[in-house]
Amino acid sequence: MTNIVWHQHPVDQAARAKQKGQNPVLLWFTGLSGAGKSTLAGALERALFEAGFHTYLLDGDNVRHGLCNDLGFTVKDRDENLRRVGEVAKLMVDAGLVILSAFISPTREERDSIRASFPAGQFIEVHVSTPLSVCEQRDPKGLYVKARSGEIANFTGVSSPYEAPLAAELTIDTSKGDLATQVRALIDYLTAINVINADKINALG
Ligand code: ADX
Repeated sequence: MTNIVWHQHPVDQAARAKQKGQNPVLLWFTGLSGAGKSTLAGALERALFEAGFHTYLLDGDNVRHGLCNDLGFTVKDRDENLRRVGEVAKLMVDAGLVILSAFISPTREERDSIRASFPAGQFIEVHVSTPLSVCEQRDPKGLYVKARSGEIANFTGVSSPYEAPLAAELTIDTSKGDLATQVRALIDYLTAINVINADKINALG
């Protein structure tokens, strides 16, 4: 990058965060297609939103309709998909928001590089570890059937690898327990690390 200098604006992340009464973070949900990433992130966002927090959910299926609609599922395209999402998330966390993202994000290298671009503690990895057999049985979009028949190439877990996180902050298998308990575990974690204020959440009951 030449001749480009970062401009420091008067309103910064700390000021925006203070105005919103929260500590901005990126909660990164990773896991196989059908693992329950979007459902879990959506339910958590709803709980946080209803408690008055300022949130946004970046979802793989939705982002691929716009920002990333020129990308497919080769390793190179997935890396570019996640690089863009990481950059967008960085801006949104700088805006003072609690960001949730739901992407397969199959490689450790790409996830770790997004983690490395955030200050310590602002990137929280949530491994949605639902086993492949369960995801395939659910097959909510009928994509596993197509992947097995060869109609879809490079399908994660079938014809393209998924590298599970080695040190995710949280691991949730959605085939065990119910959604409300899983959301509660996420909220308890966010409260414990001081991202959100327990009183706001408890006021909801
Ligand atoms: S990622 O690998 O680049 O992180 P992303 O989360 O954006 O993937 O998109 C995954 C979604 O795209 C899946 O939930 C599924 O609906 C759809 N999809 C279409 N083709 C594939 C494929 N070959 N592998 C995985 N998911 C696919």
